[in-house]
Amino acid sequence: MRLSPSSFNLQHARFAVVRDKARRVALRAACYGQRHVEECGAVVVVTGKLRAHEDVERVQQHVPDPAHRARLVKTITGYYEGKPAFQRDEAIRSGSLASMTLMLAAQSMGLVTCPMIGFDPAKVAEIVRLPEDHVLVMLIVLGKPGPGAPFPTSRLPLEETVKLETLDGPGLR
Ligand SMILES: Cc1cc2nc3c(=O)[nH]c(=O)nc-3n(C[C@H](O)[C@H](O)[C@H](O)COP(=O)(O)O)c2cc1C
Repeated sequence: MRLSPSSFNLQHARFAVVRDKARRVALRAACYGQRHVEECGAVVVVTGKLRAHEDVERVQQHVPDPAHRARLVKTITGYYEGKPAFQRDEAIRSGSLASMTLMLAAQSMGLVTCPMIGFDPAKVAEIVRLPEDHVLVMLIVLGKPGPGAPFPTSRLPLEETVKLETLDGPGLR
């Protein structure tokens, strides 16, 4: 998940891996009683750092040319500074990509996962001591495979969700 891409390599995502039973019980209550939160092996609380652009010098330190690096730092800072809605979009975007990476990695290790947004954000924030400048992205429940879902899920038709060239174009079949 740390290797997931992020815009300008800002790496907004931060993770709290909750394994402690008492904390998972508290999280379950904050998730409106959803039982998998307590019964799983661990819950990963994925968060995003809103002012990740302040780390720009550190995350761009691999750029060898100092002049190029300085220009990049200036550009990236200007791109985000004073734009709270965009900062939030980016934190959610990077955090979501990192979440999917985590779920795929877990699946490849034989684990099952469930992403979740069914929670009271204020309560989850308190339980994991969310820093002021972070946003909650989602929770990911991780565990060993159980008996499986009681019924299969479905997806909307391909031709409805994937269009050729423009979103009013013909649907892919
Ligand atoms: C952002 C997001 C939030 C979700 N929140 C919950 C949740 O709170 N509780 C839950 O049991 N499943 C949650 N899910 C799982 C979805 O219900 C599930 O992915 C969807 O119904 C499709 O099922 P499938 O992925 O098993 O095919 C969430 C999924 C996503 C992507």
